[in-house]
Formats: sequence, C-alpha cells, structure tokens
Amino acid sequence: MATLAALSLLVFTTAAAAAQAPAKPVRLGLCAACHGENGRAVQPGTPHLAGQDLDYLKSALAAYRSGARDVPLMRTATGALSSAELDELAVWFAAQSPVPP
Ligand code: HEC
Repeated sequence: MATLAALSLLVFTTAAAAAQAPAKPVRLGLCAACHGENGRAVQPGTPHLAGQDLDYLKSALAAYRSGARDVPLMRTATGALSSAELDELAVWFAAQSPVPP
C-alpha cells in the first residue's frame, strides 16, 4: 500500500514537472495589486513584468531592495523578502506571456 502511494506521488510529481510552469510564489500577493498576478500591470505608471528577462528582473529586485535603485514604493515592496523569495518572483514573472505591444 505504501509502495502504491509512493508510486502515485512519483507519477504526480513527474507530471507537474513536465508542465514546466513555475509554482505560484507564496509572496505573489504583495506584487499583484500593481503588477497583476500574470505580470500585466493593473496600475497606471507600473511596468509590465510578464516575459521580461529573468536576469534583468533579478537584478532590478536586488537593486530596489538595497536602495541602489531608489524607488521607495518598490523598496517597501521588496524589503521584507529574502533573496530566494525575490528569485522565485522573478522566475514567475519571466515565465508569463509577454504583453503584446
Ligand atoms: C504599490 C505598487 C507596487 C507594488 C505593490 C509592487 N510594485 Fe514593482 N513597481 C512599481 C512601480 C511604480 C515600478 C516602477 C519603478 C521605477 O520607476 O523604477 C515598479 C517596478 C518594478 C520592477 C522593475 C521593472 C522594470 O521594467 O524595470 C520590478 C522587477 C518589480 N517592480 C517587481 C515587483 C515585485 C516582485 C513586487 C512584489 C514583491 C512588486 N514589484 C510590488 C509598483 C509596485
């Protein structure tokens, strides 16, 4: 019985990995009000994040958190997050379909 459970778990995990979509970040709610869950900005004056370059998103988030990119709004949004959490958000937004021009 335990073997069967382990087997079905394995099948499930493999299927999820095959879909290749990143898991929804736990902290996504902190960003969604302005940038949208799928990275399509819902507030005027807010950049779309969907489909942006992953390395660019990572470095932008690090720069906001450190204050090197001095935007109080974004510093507040990123201030409480760990580097791993910021990376997870960057991976999520980079994987969303870009907004057509
Ligand atoms: C209150 C609205 C608001 C919230 C909440 C918010 N942002 Fe932002 N974000 C902005 C604005 C406005 C800018 C443009 C800032 C600038 O001029 O550099 C921005 C810029 C960015 C950029 C740079 C985009 C680019 O093209 O250079 C990234 C990446 C980003 N935000 C990610 C996030 C993430 C991840 C979260 C959640 C942890 C978040 N933001 C929460 C409003 C917000």
